[in-house]
Amino acid sequence: MTNKPTQIKLPQKKQSPSHNASTTPRECHTSHADFPITSPPNVIPDTPKLNTATQNRVLLVTFATHIQTQTNMQKTIFITGASAGLGKATARFFQAKGWQVIATMRKPENETELGALEGVTVLPLDITDPAAIAATVQQVTAQYAVDVVLNNAGYGLIGALEALSDEQITRQLDTNILGVIRVTKAFTPYFRKRQQGMFINITSSFGLLGYPACSVYSATKFAIDGFSESLAYDLAHFGVQVKIVAPGGMQTDFAGRSLDGGQHEAYAQLMAKVSEGYSAEKISQYTTAEHVAGIIYGAATDGKNQLRYIAGQDAIDLYAARAKNGAEAQYRKIQEQFVY
Ligand SMILES: NC(=O)c1ccc[n+]([C@@H]2O[C@H](COP(=O)([O-])OP(=O)(O)OC[C@H]3O[C@@H](n4cnc5c(N)ncnc54)[C@H](OP(=O)(O)O)[C@@H]3O)[C@@H](O)[C@H]2O)c1
Repeated sequence: MTNKPTQIKLPQKKQSPSHNASTTPRECHTSHADFPITSPPNVIPDTPKLNTATQNRVLLVTFATHIQTQTNMQKTIFITGASAGLGKATARFFQAKGWQVIATMRKPENETELGALEGVTVLPLDITDPAAIAATVQQVTAQYAVDVVLNNAGYGLIGALEALSDEQITRQLDTNILGVIRVTKAFTPYFRKRQQGMFINITSSFGLLGYPACSVYSATKFAIDGFSESLAYDLAHFGVQVKIVAPGGMQTDFAGRSLDGGQHEAYAQLMAKVSEGYSAEKISQYTTAEHVAGIIYGAATDGKNQLRYIAGQDAIDLYAARAKNGAEAQYRKIQEQFVY
């Protein structure tokens, strides 16, 4: 922790070099699969005059120079909901990898850690406020070359449908669906004109399969899954990618500070059973936000044409079982656990 005041003023413009996402690797990688080893020989001078050992040395130096040049191409990620949990862990992860990070949150005045990190700009943003989204995106894109937008902000709403008020349902849809759609729409013309860019949208394993007492939350995460898959086709024409990261349970304060819910006596037994999945012991077995941040980083930099990234062993197991046994078999299995 630091006493340095939260940084809410935008620093000088830092433009990432423009390059086409469809033909250029997004980031330096040392693995053979990710690194374009065909590029360096283009700049080797006069190879016929050199013996083999000298040629190899020139190749190595040229290759190292190429890696250095790629590393120096600083990229920028824009994150929603960076005050806590996965958003904050991802801000830290990308900052440690040398990225410029625009960390947005509802109350930047409470943030003391991220604003003190080099290359991190903390800005206010509530994703249920369309005017604030428009102003923030305009301000940020005027000053930065944004490469990745991470739609992370969201929260859970747990309970039987008839236990939830209309206000609770509306707020959940407004945040988890409309917030993501608004932020995405605001950045789309910018990415389209640049002919590059990537949206990474956080869903959930509950956006891939339904679960008891999660009907409205699941509706929001299924919606973002469908929204992302559909949008990916439209934006592919402009070199813009849309990816989905679907975590299972994460050791964040999701089940505490952010969770909303409702109780109804008719569902008391079901809720007691569902609550077992949110016990301190169960949460301690969940994957960490840092691990999921690493998966988001992989999605941003792997250069792959991949839509979904399933994060965490529980989510991987559930998704694999669905693929292997089919959605109907999985539905009946979960039913056996919860319906009696
Ligand atoms: N934890 C899990 O088990 C789990 C599993 C699967 C998917 N997810 C998803 O992962 C994402 C991050 O959740 P988390 O686990 O990191 O929970 P978290 O620690 O509670 O963080 C949620 C973040 O979303 C922000 N937020 C909520 N409403 C917002 C709004 N209207 N505008 C801007 N920011 C808003 C919160 O900001 P404030 O500080 O202002 O409240 C906070 O920064 C969510 O989309 C969630 O659905 C979580």
